[in-house]
Amino acid sequence: MSFETLKPKVDSIIESAEHSVEEKLTRVCELLQESLPAYDWVGFYFANHEQRTLHLKAFAGEPTDHTVIPFGKGICGQVAESNSNFVVPDVKAQDNYIACSIYVKAEIVIPLFKDGVNIGQIDIDSHTPDPFTEDDERFLEWVNEKVATIL
Ligand code: SME
Repeated sequence: MSFETLKPKVDSIIESAEHSVEEKLTRVCELLQESLPAYDWVGFYFANHEQRTLHLKAFAGEPTDHTVIPFGKGICGQVAESNSNFVVPDVKAQDNYIACSIYVKAEIVIPLFKDGVNIGQIDIDSHTPDPFTEDDERFLEWVNEKVATIL
């Protein structure tokens, strides 16, 4: 499914009156994971800035042991500090990487900003090597901007 087709579906999840924020986050994860073949695992982590840790709030795909990630650790922890998108075409080439599954080949993490503060991120794992393009970055930035409106 194309990103342009997905955008109104994300909008309707975000705008839905009868779901909690956590349900909306989970439904966005499920929508992306079911609609985009390279998106095998989709999750939202949110920062505890005092403890300098990331906490998994919602996901779609296999459960992960990595529900709490210290700032600086793994791809996710690096994005908590860099405030920048991190696209990993080949996870084996990364030294600072936390493996969630032996099947994962690639990963993309996009920070989520609320009022200019990096409060979390969307994280996608893929079993396909090098699947992510700048279009994925722009789409996921758009998703995070939408999500920020309900936080
Ligand atoms: N691979 C991530 C850890 C989270 S899992 O992908 C769900 C990382 O290196 O930060």
